[in-house]
Amino acid sequence: MKAIKIEDLVVGNRFSKPIYLDDENIFINANTPITENDLQKLKKNSLKEVFTEGEKISDKSSSPKNFSDSLPADPNKAILKLLHMNTEKSRTEFESVYKTAFLAVQDFYRKFSEDRQADANSIRLAGDKIYDFTKAYPNFPYLLLNHREEGYYLYNHSVKATFYSMLIASALEFSKPRALELAFSSLIADCGMAKIPSNISEKKGTLTESEYKIVQKHTVLAYQYLTKVMKLRHNQAVVSLQHHENYDGTGYPSKIKKIEIDEVTAIYSLADNFSAMVSDRPWRKKFLPYDAMKTMISVTMNKFDLNILRIFLNKSSIYPVGSFVELSDGCIAKVLEANNTKMLRPSIYIVRDSAGNLPPSEQYFNLALENDITITKAIDLNP
Ligand SMILES: [Fe+2]
Repeated sequence: MKAIKIEDLVVGNRFSKPIYLDDENIFINANTPITENDLQKLKKNSLKEVFTEGEKISDKSSSPKNFSDSLPADPNKAILKLLHMNTEKSRTEFESVYKTAFLAVQDFYRKFSEDRQADANSIRLAGDKIYDFTKAYPNFPYLLLNHREEGYYLYNHSVKATFYSMLIASALEFSKPRALELAFSSLIADCGMAKIPSNISEKKGTLTESEYKIVQKHTVLAYQYLTKVMKLRHNQAVVSLQHHENYDGTGYPSKIKKIEIDEVTAIYSLADNFSAMVSDRPWRKKFLPYDAMKTMISVTMNKFDLNILRIFLNKSSIYPVGSFVELSDGCIAKVLEANNTKMLRPSIYIVRDSAGNLPPSEQYFNLALENDITITKAIDLNP
């Protein structure tokens, strides 16, 4: 039998005769592809070689492809495909982290609405999981924007805004303890809304002046609950109090401005606004992510700390990661990654060709490197 070095084996390799660990023990049967798990086992046992009397089968058409064979030859495109695959691989974990946070928020807000002591520990654990996930998968906004929401808007909103807070915290290079505090504060920031009657908070038409004043109370109600009932420190509850204050002093409840607003609050406030804009509400349809971003950097720009707004824009792209765009050649694409220096030219992959059909093969483009293709408009392909 001839020896094959372990380092020469790759996932998907098949041999015409069995692969043996030694003279007697078959490791993999003939014509059976080697799996990642098989390779791990060999490496774990510090084996250097395996043995076979067969030949490697090189029929690519009938055998599972080697992983490297499935990557585009262009290294820039290969990187994009790997990013896409890695992001998609994390989807199940994302759904689990999201659900855990949703349930913790739901429980916390319900307890508050019933004037009961809530469980801060569940919120902290949920915040920790969100932080860990966003660190492990920095491209998480792709998943967030395409997440199918179930359940009450307020709980979903709080979870989504917390994810976006983590995006900004990461760009600002927050230390882990500081980012975890932000995640914790973000998840409970809007708990005061649980005290606002639903005929007001979910009203389809424009709020009357007196109704708007009732809504505004959710900030103070939350702060009082968090500090007096939950015994949280000021810096853990300040986001709930200040998150509707605006950078230009036009917000509520205290009309404070600029540096009077806590930095952590300024981060959450921006995340909160974006998350709300890309969600359906009883009184309006959701904005396209592009339109939400454009509104934030034009119409409502003065509401935000400009540095934080710039960072959010750089990290998300004007065509936010996970959103759909139409290209100058008529194809439809999904934004995969922002481009920090050329924000109108993110990395994308094609989801429909110019005739509206699924493309025959996966096509990835870093638009910063493609002079012939431009984005003509943002579109909505989500249900
Ligand atoms: Fe709020």
